[in-house]
Amino acid sequence: MIVNEFIPKPYKQLLERGVTAYSAPSNIALVKYWGKKAHQIPANPSISFTLDNCKTTTTLKFEKKTSEGFSFEVFLEGVLEEDFKPKIEQFFNRIEMYLPFLRTYHFVIETSNTFPHSSGIASSASGMSALALCLMKIEQQLNPDMSKEFFNKKASFLARLGSGSACRSIKGSLVVWGTHANIEGSSDLFGIKYPYEVHQNFTNYHDTILLVDKGEKQVSSTVGHNLMHNHPFAEQRFEQAHSNLDALILVLKSGDLSTFIRIVESEALTLHAMMMSSDSYFILMKPNTLEIINKIWAFRAQTGLHICFTLDAGANVHVLFPEAEAKEIQEFIKTELALHCQNGHFIEDKLGQGAQPIKN
Ligand code: PMV
Repeated sequence: MIVNEFIPKPYKQLLERGVTAYSAPSNIALVKYWGKKAHQIPANPSISFTLDNCKTTTTLKFEKKTSEGFSFEVFLEGVLEEDFKPKIEQFFNRIEMYLPFLRTYHFVIETSNTFPHSSGIASSASGMSALALCLMKIEQQLNPDMSKEFFNKKASFLARLGSGSACRSIKGSLVVWGTHANIEGSSDLFGIKYPYEVHQNFTNYHDTILLVDKGEKQVSSTVGHNLMHNHPFAEQRFEQAHSNLDALILVLKSGDLSTFIRIVESEALTLHAMMMSSDSYFILMKPNTLEIINKIWAFRAQTGLHICFTLDAGANVHVLFPEAEAKEIQEFIKTELALHCQNGHFIEDKLGQGAQPIKN
């Protein structure tokens, strides 16, 4: 699959060396992406909140080289990381036709996360979007006429080829990825800022991430996505994602928090139900994940507050709540939910505005 729109014209002149730097946030899906086709095309559309505190900062140093092939080193928090190399090599192979300068330079990639590496929070979304943006910044210097809009679109397009959900981490605070009939401009190729009205109930929405299991993922998302091929419920699931997005468009406009909760929690449980009913099957929730969910449900029934949860492909719980109810809910998290986290650890986050360039 070749997308001509993103193949640049020959560069007039190349730089000898330089440095670019970006910070990019993580994101949490409300309607989940689970299942993909060839070339990182999602099987269904998804929508996510862009986060603020959980982010990756990447500095990319580049210098002309004479050797052939790709040449790069990756440092995480100052330590050389050989383990990251295959994923980045694969990324470079996928995007080479869109960034022909990749073989011209030796790259030093220095990256750090605001969240601990072993927190169970995937750094692939924030990491791949930060790297895509750093690379785009080089391309922008080679082609200065590029519009801001094209810059972001191509950054998202490239990030997707690194890790699907990374394409939703360029902009804030609500991003849609995947073609949906009723969302204008939506595309399988890149994420777009949600284009319609959003009720003030959803401004400054909170996401407190409860770190239930900080271990490495038991099942990589690549393996998980592939299990949706030949999954007995795949087609119904993909249709459901479309209809949940339709319902969410109305909710985002009206500010109807009860329906928001119903959609978001159902999406999280459906994601895990897909994992539990695939061949082979697996369970990523831990006993503490369920303890937390039950406590959230009881607290919501008792208080009428609009607290809800969502899950990624792991055991950690994202607790979502509106700004207007934050005080009481944060207190509840500290006193009742933190005890179910590994070493009592959780991360308070909220909606963010997307990636930012770092001035050198
Ligand atoms: O971007 P990937 O390939 O790691 O997949 C992420 C999938 C989920 O986080 C489970 C859902 C989503 O839409 O982010």
